Amino acid sequence: MEIMKSKVLIADDEVKIRRVMVMLLKDEGYEVMAVENGVASVKALSSFKPDIVLLDQQMPDMTGMEAMLQIKNKNPNQTIIIVTAYGSISLAVDAIKNGAYDFIEKPFDNDKLLLTVKRAIEFNDISNKLTRLKGQLKENYSFWQIIGNSPKLQQVMAKVRKIAETTVTVLVLGESGVGKELIVRQIHNYSQRSEKPLITVNCGAIPLTLIESELFGHEKGAFTDAKETQIGTFEKANGSTLFLDEIGELPLDAQVKLLRVLEERVINRVGGKKSIPIDVRIIAATNRNLEEKVRQGTFRLDLLYRLNIFTINVPPLRERREDVPLLVDYFIMKYNKILNLTVNNISQQAVDLLKEYDWPGNIRDLENAIQSAMILSQTGQIIADHLPMRIKVYPRIESILLDTESDNNKIRDASEHVEKELIVDTLMRYNYNRTLAAEALNISRKTLFNKMKKYGI
Ligand SMILES: Nc1ncnc2c1ncn2[C@@H]1O[C@H](COP(=O)(O)OP(=O)(O)OP(=O)(O)O)[C@@H](O)[C@H]1O
Ligand SMILES: [Mg+2]
Repeated sequence: MEIMKSKVLIADDEVKIRRVMVMLLKDEGYEVMAVENGVASVKALSSFKPDIVLLDQQMPDMTGMEAMLQIKNKNPNQTIIIVTAYGSISLAVDAIKNGAYDFIEKPFDNDKLLLTVKRAIEFNDISNKLTRLKGQLKENYSFWQIIGNSPKLQQVMAKVRKIAETTVTVLVLGESGVGKELIVRQIHNYSQRSEKPLITVNCGAIPLTLIESELFGHEKGAFTDAKETQIGTFEKANGSTLFLDEIGELPLDAQVKLLRVLEERVINRVGGKKSIPIDVRIIAATNRNLEEKVRQGTFRLDLLYRLNIFTINVPPLRERREDVPLLVDYFIMKYNKILNLTVNNISQQAVDLLKEYDWPGNIRDLENAIQSAMILSQTGQIIADHLPMRIKVYPRIESILLDTESDNNKIRDASEHVEKELIVDTLMRYNYNRTLAAEALNISRKTLFNKMKKYGI
């Protein structure tokens, strides 16, 4: 069997750099393509299908970062490494925040370049594998447990239990990935309707022209493609609970129709004359600010009033950091089972980093971080080194950089921070062998020793 070579796409305007990189990476067994600007790198995506893209930040037509955003637009999962000038830490931070996997400073050390690319490829393989697995998981396993004992989550759960027994309409609000869907399932499961299946519609995922027929069904011949009479989700959910997910994405036309259904508790199939009474408990969820949408004229106020009779706000993870360790243990258990792994431990340093991070993608993001760390850990223990870069290094630098007073000092502090992190990182990677670490860092053993002393490593 022929083993597929991993593909690396390089964009750099300097012909010399391109030549060196191509040579190095080809020697290492990669399939390499090099282009001289950002536009060409975006163009090369569909034909070359690279695993990794290396983008030089300073290019004449567009910066590496701009090219990265265009590439991510086409393929959000593309793994990208940005090549920056030496010492431009804030830029590197920005790149990572915007979704770069890692960065390399120019002039680069050959081994460092190869190591970074190798790690990026490993990461890429893992995330591809995970994406594939995730599809299968949904069917094979159901993990509906709600983990956490922070006061904030307990308040939410108290509300859930209270409202579950009723048939009152519920609106569940919260940032992306906080667990809204999980809460909705819990309400249904605690309710008297739990014997019947919860019916879910994702209001953001149905094409505009099909929304009405999807929700309310249609009669045979109602429109060209309506070959058979079909019932909609409201009728399917009769006697049970209907979950209207991403309600904020529902177009205005459909909002009018939905409002009428909520008011009159009857539906009309598209093309149908008779009104069909329905008994459906409605739960809606969104990560949008619906009041803001009302002000902008994209969400109807009367519909909002019908929906927000009882609201549950699910707090973001950064407001209940106490839950992080419990969630971590839970996800380790979950993915040991699913991925057949035997991870049994996570270092205190790693847990501390996870607790410190701001989690813009909330629990979903934490879950993903744990999954990939578990696969990277081949020893049964997760250590800080296995965590994604943005979690490992950047939250602390970011907080330093955000405070713009006395920028220079801050930036110096930040670079020292990065330097220290890099040294710790490299030492860990080489099992604390100083000779190898110094070599990888391209400094003498003596310099390494002095720096370790300076940073108290
Ligand atoms: N408290 C929790 N305990 C265990 N797992 C959780 C918890 N909260 C969320 N999760 C898990 O995190 C992931 C994201 O949760 P969910 O899909 O419910 O988020 P959401 O708020 O609906 O996000 P979005 O707005 O992006 O749709 C799911 O895999 C879910 O099982
Ligand atoms: Mg959701």
